Amino acid sequence: MSAPAYDLVIRGGTVATASDVFPADIGIRGERIAAIGEALPAGAHEIGAAGRLVLPGGVDAHAHIEQLSAAGIMNADTWESATGSAALGGTTSVIAFAAQHVGADLAQVVSDYAALAAKGSLVDYAFHLIVSDPTEKCLRTDLPALLGGGHGSVKAFMTYDRLRLEDEQVLDLMVAAKAGGGLVCVHAENHGMIAWMGKRLVEHGHLAPRFHAASHPRGSEAEAFDRLVAMAALVDQPVMIFHVSTREGVAAVRRARGAGHKVYAETCPQYLFLTAADLDKPGLEGAKWMCSPPPRSRDDQEALWQGLALGDLQLVSSDHAPYAFDATGKLSAGPEPSFKQIANGLPGLEWRLPLLFDATVSGGRLGLSRFVELTATAPARIYNLPGKGSVAIGADADLCIWDPDRVVTLTDAAVHDRAGYTPYAGRTLRGWPTVVLRRGEVIVEDGALVAGPGSGRFLPRNGGEAARPTGRLGPEASLVLGP
Ligand code: URP
Ligand code: ZN
Ligand code: ZN
Repeated sequence: MSAPAYDLVIRGGTVATASDVFPADIGIRGERIAAIGEALPAGAHEIGAAGRLVLPGGVDAHAHIEQLSAAGIMNADTWESATGSAALGGTTSVIAFAAQHVGADLAQVVSDYAALAAKGSLVDYAFHLIVSDPTEKCLRTDLPALLGGGHGSVKAFMTYDRLRLEDEQVLDLMVAAKAGGGLVCVHAENHGMIAWMGKRLVEHGHLAPRFHAASHPRGSEAEAFDRLVAMAALVDQPVMIFHVSTREGVAAVRRARGAGHKVYAETCPQYLFLTAADLDKPGLEGAKWMCSPPPRSRDDQEALWQGLALGDLQLVSSDHAPYAFDATGKLSAGPEPSFKQIANGLPGLEWRLPLLFDATVSGGRLGLSRFVELTATAPARIYNLPGKGSVAIGADADLCIWDPDRVVTLTDAAVHDRAGYTPYAGRTLRGWPTVVLRRGEVIVEDGALVAGPGSGRFLPRNGGEAARPTGRLGPEASLVLGP
């Protein structure tokens, strides 16, 4: 008897890509998709997918994992717990951070984070390199080597004490990234406005978590976006703007893209589904909803949805930044902290996809192909992860089988990351990932993890097309950067 044509066949499902939805079987050989078609010959193993959707595994391009915050607080998660929760939610690739703090050696930082990921990750992974101390050695020696060695992007903060770069340093980082073909990702908010508001709110006795929202004036976002785009245009460096939260922010991105600047932008579930009112809870409870920028208003949510529909925003990432609601995390400054002493960040890796599926597919906001595009295909393309984010012959068999009719109510008890709570508790979602494959291997089966820590693989990448300059250097900069 001849050997089966495939190692595994996913049979009878409805396949969705960023462009098409069609009935098909998927034949997998080894780690890759070998065939997509009707009535494929038998595989050594088979998974029945009748009545199910077969989508690419999610790509989450913004997750803080086992990372030390600017204030020296450790994330609640290990690589194992974070990526286990990612897999359970249908995500098969993550881009996390290697975070340099002032005084640290970037090459050493990256090697340390890489060791943690190699030991613990259950999904495939890459890094954005956070640069907060752009010394000569960092920019001229470490960064070129790292960008040339499989790290395709850097991240700069324009706010946060101890992490932020001055504008001149942002420009230096952009020029160094450009030389190495890397994309520059930015947390862009006006630091002065935030510091000014925060100090005065505390002076006035406004200490509760809800004042965190007021301490990030909405205008601080668009101002920083405009300044960032002007800097990027001066040195001709493409940029990714992280976590857009306001209507004015979307408009700033649209303006920049309309003017021909190579600008990309993401938003996150917390800005699509939460508002500043979520921080307004008795006592310190609102700390669970504190992230930066803060959730805004219903009107901002609508503007973000519109930005996603029109393509101003190209992807939705989690910005998973988990801190437990106890003395190890949110309450590490003591039992009665002011909002300024509470760590910023929300857990979100696990349910990014179900939340988005419920709104875009079950709720009909954008449809199935756009869901796939925003959560898998676009991040894989923009961050240059070949073989990821699509259902295609030759692609990695990173697949997620969805039951579009399963109804699940989210609870704190059901989360698998180590934050110990979810900002979305009580919401009922329609559509749930039931089986998840990473490179042809089943890693989640009926809600249970069946993969081990360290089975995820590092994804070497360069900045790719997204990071390629336009060739239009700012005229003034051509005096100092030109040939
Ligand atoms: O509040 C957030 N998002 N914390 C994580 C760090 C960051 O700003 O990206
Ligand atoms: Zn950020
Ligand atoms: Zn972040």
